[in-house]
Amino acid sequence: MYTSENGKIWLATGSERVYLEPAMANRHGMIAGATGTGKTVTLKVVAESFSEMGVPVFIADIKGDVSGMCLPGSENKHIRRSIDTMGIEDFNYTSFPVRFFDVYGRLGHPVRTTVSDMGPELLSRLLGLNDVQSGVLRIVFRIADEQGLLLLDLKDLRSMLQYVADHSSEYKIKYGNVSATSVGAIQRALLTLEDEGGNIFFGEPMLEIADWFDWAEDGRGMMNILECAELFQHPLLYGTFLLWMLSELYELLPEAGDLDKPKIAFFFDEAHLLFKDAPKALLEKVEQIVRLIRSKGVSVWFITQNPMDIPESVLAQIGNRVQHALRAYTPNEQKAIRAAAQSFRVNPAFDTQTVLQELATGEALVSVLDEKGIPGIVQRANILPPKSSMNAVEPAVIGTVTANSPLFDKYGVIVDRESAYEVLSAAAEEAERQAEEETRAKEEEKRRIAEEKEKAAEEKRLAAEERKRAAEQKAKEKEKAQKKAAAKKKTSALEKATSSAMNTIGREVGKQLVRGLFGTLKK
Ligand SMILES: Nc1ncnc2c1ncn2[C@@H]1O[C@H](COP(=O)(O)OP(=O)(O)O)[C@@H](O)[C@H]1O
Ligand SMILES: [Mg+2]
Repeated sequence: MYTSENGKIWLATGSERVYLEPAMANRHGMIAGATGTGKTVTLKVVAESFSEMGVPVFIADIKGDVSGMCLPGSENKHIRRSIDTMGIEDFNYTSFPVRFFDVYGRLGHPVRTTVSDMGPELLSRLLGLNDVQSGVLRIVFRIADEQGLLLLDLKDLRSMLQYVADHSSEYKIKYGNVSATSVGAIQRALLTLEDEGGNIFFGEPMLEIADWFDWAEDGRGMMNILECAELFQHPLLYGTFLLWMLSELYELLPEAGDLDKPKIAFFFDEAHLLFKDAPKALLEKVEQIVRLIRSKGVSVWFITQNPMDIPESVLAQIGNRVQHALRAYTPNEQKAIRAAAQSFRVNPAFDTQTVLQELATGEALVSVLDEKGIPGIVQRANILPPKSSMNAVEPAVIGTVTANSPLFDKYGVIVDRESAYEVLSAAAEEAERQAEEETRAKEEEKRRIAEEKEKAAEEKRLAAEERKRAAEQKAKEKEKAQKKAAAKKKTSALEKATSSAMNTIGREVGKQLVRGLFGTLKK
């Protein structure tokens, strides 16, 4: 166990041991450094310690090398040296309880989100909408929410947009103007998103964040690994999906106050993608959610190459820092080194800026919060070796783990349940059917009237014949009854058509949908 007797996490060793205070883990963490300097291994070591403490973990796996956590590690020179020099007793290579998720459903449980759940804020970003267009999108969501219409995927959103555009005059007073120009622009943005593979991202099964909270029989926290190699090819989708998960976590968890350890640790690799080209309003929301999620017991870890990629307002909230080596070839890199060095409390034993460039693989500058929340003096230290495998595992292993998971039945198949698209198109079909029926009824009526006239003429012609007159009289009575029945039929068809129009918006109903802080759906 890297968890010491006093409940702290032994993370690294330099001139002294560096311990992470679990009660301060909700003040978040950052793992930074150039490629190949040891960020992912550090992430694993921290995640392993949380799991051992009974804290479930979520990790976005971009290179596939996090997947090795389901297998025990194996001896190598670097690890042997660490074990010997750091005085690690009873070190044992071990595997961790792992679950795999994959948006594409290939390397883990297939998981997606729904358009309704993601909400207009995040979707506006995905679609690259301007303020006016975002405003229109918000109106479209409000109308769908209030009427309890579920928007599962992009085709639902498309039909909903069309629906609102077609009825814009009815909604104008209550919600504001929905211009055809804006709707057109959103439709075009949707096309682009679809071309980029955005379709795979939306639909069901929707990931239920509550499923992350699980433990192995021995009490260790579950490692929930999201396979992101492919998703990462679409950086905006990747960034937005992770942001959505963070806001889901926020909405799911109650206020928790001060805890002795976090409820969950969330590791966000390539975190700069969250912030890249993000509009100011969204940045403010991210900053807000990172601040507020603290009191819900969530420990967020940002993994990034250059700490300058993370906005100052977010960086300021990160209490625990592991800074691996940075390169200093270009002026920008030199600037980044100065900034990184200045973010640490100076250690009189060395020059932070110089050491930052000298650090070996697996070595880092580390500063963590003490039990009072005060940042410690920066330490030059070697990160402990991980106990699980540092390598990526074969897809077949992931397949086996996934097939044996209790979540297999729940997420096993990707489905397309009845949602706005189906409801709206079914409603359109129904309206068409009603219209046809009405036309048919009218024609029938015409035919009967013509028949009636004809019969009336015949009646006149046969008026002279006494015997036939009686029979004629009888026929007339019959006609009258038929006419009455037809009129009745016409009314009921009309009634049906009207009530169907009312039903159109409200098929999926149940309840009005409510949105949380981040514009995502409240559960
Ligand atoms: N703490 C460590 N203990 C042992 N080996 C390490 C450690 N950190 C890094 N390494 C070695 O360095 C390699 C690269 O580290 P990695 O974490 O993948 O870098 P990064 O994620 O920054 O690109 C690893 O595959 C491993 O061999
Ligand atoms: Mg890495």
